[in-house]
This record gives sequence, structure tokens and C-alpha cells, in this order.
Amino acid sequence: MSLIKKISLDYMAIKHDQNFDNLSERFRKNIYDSPKGQIRLNILWRDLLEQIPEIETGGLSILDVGAGQGNFALQLAKKNNQLTLCDLSNNMLLDAQTLFSENKLEKDARFIHAPVQELSEHIAEQYDVVLFHAVLEWLAEPEQALKQLLKFIKPGGYLSLMFYSRTGLIYQNLTRGNFNNILNNSLSGEGKSLTPTNPQDPDDVYRWLKGLKLNTVLKSGVRVFYDGISRERRKQINEEELLELEKRFSRIEPYCSLARYIHVLCQKQDVGFID
Ligand SMILES: C[S@@+](CC[C@H](N)C(=O)[O-])C[C@H]1O[C@@H](n2cnc3c(N)ncnc32)[C@H](O)[C@@H]1O
Repeated sequence: MSLIKKISLDYMAIKHDQNFDNLSERFRKNIYDSPKGQIRLNILWRDLLEQIPEIETGGLSILDVGAGQGNFALQLAKKNNQLTLCDLSNNMLLDAQTLFSENKLEKDARFIHAPVQELSEHIAEQYDVVLFHAVLEWLAEPEQALKQLLKFIKPGGYLSLMFYSRTGLIYQNLTRGNFNNILNNSLSGEGKSLTPTNPQDPDDVYRWLKGLKLNTVLKSGVRVFYDGISRERRKQINEEELLELEKRFSRIEPYCSLARYIHVLCQKQDVGFID
């Protein structure tokens, strides 16, 4: 079979967005009950704080699309920012609601059970910051979803976009000796796997952002090297040192571009509405 045919078959296989109703437990265990979650939260917080210091003093309106179990949203809500969380998965959203109520912040936040494609039916306002973290790579039509988000960002407001990088995935497969995955072009996860169904080529994402006139103000790699550490060694490493080094190398090339995820913080031009 020719490579082009294989690639188009790969694409055709992604028919729908991944609802996390049946993945919530595995997701929690794999990400937020492990240093992976801490790396994610630390890099995101550092990046946002650097560009938008008001997130610490509060008062910002923030929309978290595909918010999942609400881990990062909670961190922002604790600083008196006004959070709206939405997700396609009811189970994930219920977990987020529980987390907020355990922290006595449920009444200050809004929870919307809807996919990004139907958000306009629920939301009329624009936000200071829109978060779209680890969602793009689970969508059948990621570029369309990005376009749909634009109307929810205030002019001059921010989009914090974190996506699973195809480049990072290829590099990890190569260095682990998983050559078949590369040779067969089978880079998409399936069924109950936490490997995303649609890993994103960073160049595609940067091109879409440019087309939407979203200016990139900073870029970081998330999990630049952690996944390459053996399970045995992981048990011995010091988490503070891990976070310090992940942060340090997250902004340095070529490490940044080889990371599992890329975080791009973009600012919407102050020129009014683009649809
Ligand atoms: C990997 S989780 C990320 C959760 C959270 N943003 C985080 O970083 O912890 C992806 C989430 O996107 C949600 N999702 C998938 N397709 C969606 C869509 N079309 N609209 C809204 N959420 C979607 C899933 O249900 C899941 O909760």
C-alpha cells in the first residue's frame, strides 16, 4: 500500500471526537495521580502568570473548553477568577464539579455539558482567557474547533492552547525502538487507549493560528524528557528537581519541539470580530 493511501486511511479512521466518559478513571490515574499532571500544571501556570499576571490577583473571566476533571481550572478559581467549564463528557464534568465543591468553589463557577461545536447555544459572552488543553488531538476536525473558539475570546484576550505533538510522539517511538508504529504510520490511539486519536503536527497548528490572526506570545514544551525516563528510575527521582528541569528545558530548542505536548499562548488581535 502506498504511503499516501495509508495516511488517508489513518485520517479516515478518526470519525468522531473522543468522549471521555469511559476514560475518566484511567485519565486521573495516568495523568493527575502522577508527575505528568504536576508537570502540566506547573508549565501552564508559569506560562500564564508570566504573560497575564492578573491570574494571580483574580477577576478574570476564563472559559475552559474540554476542561475534563477541572484540575487547572481549580487552580485559577482559587485565585478568585471567574471560571466556566465545558466538556463533551458528562462524567468528566461531574468529576470537575465534585472537585470544585470539595474546595467550596462550585457556586462561583459555571459548568456546561456541551461539545465545543455547540457552545454558542450556551454562551453569548466573550472571555479574557480561553483554555483549550489536550483536546485538539481528540477531535475529528481540530481546525474547525479552533475557529469556533475564536468568537469566545475578547479582542486583546488570550487563547492558551496545549496540544499533543505528532513530532514528540514520532521521536519517542523511534527512541523506544517502536519502528512498526512509524513504518505503518499507525500513530493514532484507539478505543480505551489514552494515546490520542489525532496527534497534531505542530506546523499545521501554527498555520491555523496564524490564519485566525492569533499571535503567538510564547511557546513551551510540556513533558520534554519525563516520558523517556525508565519506570525504575522514575521511582528514585526527586519531583522538585524534575519540575525545575522540565521548566528549564521547556523553552529551549530543540527540547521544546520534541516534547509530548506543546503549549502555545496566543493573543487575539484587537481588531474586533473574525468569524
Ligand atoms: C485529555 S482530556 C483533557 C482535560 C483537561 N483539559 C486537562 O488538560 O486535564 C480531553 C477532554 O476533551 C473532551 N472533549 C473531547 N471532545 C470534545 C468536544 N468536541 N468538545 C468539548 N470537549 C471535548 C473529553 O471529553 C475530555 O474530557
